Amino acid sequence: MSSVLAICGLNKTYDGGFEALKEIQLEIRKGEIFALLGPNGAGKTTLISIICGITNKSSGIISVNGFDIEKDYRKARQQIGLVPQELTTQAFEKVIDTLTFSRGLFGLKPDKQHIESILKSLSLWDKRDNKIMTLSGGMKRRVLIAKALAHEPQILFLDEPTAGVDVELRKDMWKLVRQLRESGVTIILTTHYIEEAEEMADRVGVINKGQIVLVEEKSALMKKLGSKQLILELQQPLAEIPEALKSYDLSLEGSKLVFTYDSNNPNNGICDLLEQLKADNIRYDDLNTKQSSLEDIFVNLVAKQ
Ligand SMILES: Nc1ncnc2c1ncn2[C@@H]1O[C@H](COP(=O)(O)OP(=O)(O)OP(=O)(O)O)[C@@H](O)[C@H]1O
Ligand SMILES: [Mg+2]
Repeated sequence: MSSVLAICGLNKTYDGGFEALKEIQLEIRKGEIFALLGPNGAGKTTLISIICGITNKSSGIISVNGFDIEKDYRKARQQIGLVPQELTTQAFEKVIDTLTFSRGLFGLKPDKQHIESILKSLSLWDKRDNKIMTLSGGMKRRVLIAKALAHEPQILFLDEPTAGVDVELRKDMWKLVRQLRESGVTIILTTHYIEEAEEMADRVGVINKGQIVLVEEKSALMKKLGSKQLILELQQPLAEIPEALKSYDLSLEGSKLVFTYDSNNPNNGICDLLEQLKADNIRYDDLNTKQSSLEDIFVNLVAKQ
């Protein structure tokens, strides 16, 4: 699959010396949903703001659909729709006018049908003549999405689209994002909700302290999720894993013997392992199992740094 966004050696140091992004390398594939996960202050919004030309980078190269964000700024920007994290709307403007205006800003011809279909897909058609200030918070967020789509962008950035949004609207948004993807739009969303990444993403990236610490297919991550651990509390700590047990995926953590196995596989080896332990006279007081989740992977990655 070809890449629609390429980021190479990107660094950002804010005035005052804070290094918000360090040597970011990232390629986004055409038509994928990419979820960027990271704790508060990790650099997600900074990264998006740089790609969208709102914040200047310190160094590095970014190209959007082949257009360099500096040399070909207008063309690069035209490819992008941005739904910002902070609610920013012209309070006195009518919903429909803000979309029409935004489309015009990008130099596109008016297209009433397109605007109508966006408003309908976001359940805003009934509110089209309302002033934005009269809408609820969730509706305002929908207006921001509608506005970002008015110029038919190829890439849509959603910065925390469902923060502070109720369950129903969240589900609506997920549906809309999938529809957009089906129509060929590439979607990059940032989120704190691991559940959201699990639900939506084709690939997941984790950013922490300005560095990308993981980029992986969600399906590969889910495979990792399929792995489970059996933890045995040994009566006598072992100096090393005995020869007869070397064929098992085992590790020693103090007096704990940890067996990692595939929970999706009925022949996961637990019975054989326990028999082998008995044969080798390795005794344990207690045993329990642990399922790793995307959340564990995420927390581990972030804690390690
Ligand atoms: N204009 C600025 N000047 C100085 N530092 C800034 C500025 N904007 C952001 N930062 C710092 O850069 C870091 C990354 O901020 P950023 O907003 O990109 O994080 P984020 O990952 O989007 O966090 P959140 O999940 O809270 O939205 C933070 O430490 C922040 O304080
Ligand atoms: Mg942010």
